[in-house]
Amino acid sequence: MMEAQKRGQITVTVSTDLNLTESDIRLQPDYVLFPSGEQLDWKSIEDISGNETACYYVEANTAKAIKGFSEFSGRFYGLMPTDSAPTMLISGIPMHRIKDTNPHQDTLNKIKAVAPIKGDVLDTTTGLGYTAVEAAKTARHVTTIEIDPTAQEIARFNPWSQALFNHPKITQVIGDAFEEIEKLAADSFSTIIHDPPMFTLAGDLYSLAFYQQAFRVLKDNGRIFHYIGDPESKSGARVTAGVIRRLQEAGFKRVIRAPRAFGVVAHKQ
Ligand SMILES: C[S@@+](CC[C@H](N)C(=O)[O-])C[C@H]1O[C@@H](n2cnc3c(N)ncnc32)[C@H](O)[C@@H]1O
Repeated sequence: MMEAQKRGQITVTVSTDLNLTESDIRLQPDYVLFPSGEQLDWKSIEDISGNETACYYVEANTAKAIKGFSEFSGRFYGLMPTDSAPTMLISGIPMHRIKDTNPHQDTLNKIKAVAPIKGDVLDTTTGLGYTAVEAAKTARHVTTIEIDPTAQEIARFNPWSQALFNHPKITQVIGDAFEEIEKLAADSFSTIIHDPPMFTLAGDLYSLAFYQQAFRVLKDNGRIFHYIGDPESKSGARVTAGVIRRLQEAGFKRVIRAPRAFGVVAHKQ
């Protein structure tokens, strides 16, 4: 918009929903006018342009950053734009891969690692709901668990997460996956998508006790995709070795590395 104004244009086509669709924006001398009727002064546009790690929404002609402090975890949550779908930042750490790829491709890689996805799916950590929504395209039903209500609030603002809130095949649970999984019936899921924050942020979700519960709730021919992180990095390699050992200890039979998806796939039988 700033470049178009410098060139003397009076309209420009941009995306106001984080790359999902495009719309025509009118460029006035003092402000920009959105199709919704909202307007924003040029100073706000410059401020937004200068912040590459925040997304904003416009309300009452004012831009507000999409962010929140979680009383629950004591961590800051925010929505960060990319050239594709946005990611969520927790304490400044992106919850999806953004280096040499993007959150959308990252999601497709995770799903591909356990495709074809059929039957009932457990998505252990909702986040922005990308894995839950993608899995729901072919699954019978998806149960997705999120520990932090702030994450859900951030997702509500994200145009890419809307299906999470209105998809008939998705059930959202707010709770700790470590505890919630104990309440789920044995042999009830065909697939588990386990996409926890990094080990140092969520150690419980990498524990033998958690993997034993995952094994219990899976059907006999079920499998789990476990995101871990870059297997070529020092910490990724170390955590991967521990995860594989504990998954086997929990009873999983074939535990196969899925390096393209930065994780492993483990089979109950
Ligand atoms: C990497 S993100 C998940 C991304 C998600 N798969 C997606 O597609 O957007 C991890 C999420 O797990 C949540 N989380 C952390 N600990 C949890 C727990 N014990 N139970 C459930 N969710 C948890 C975090 O708040 C965060 O939203």
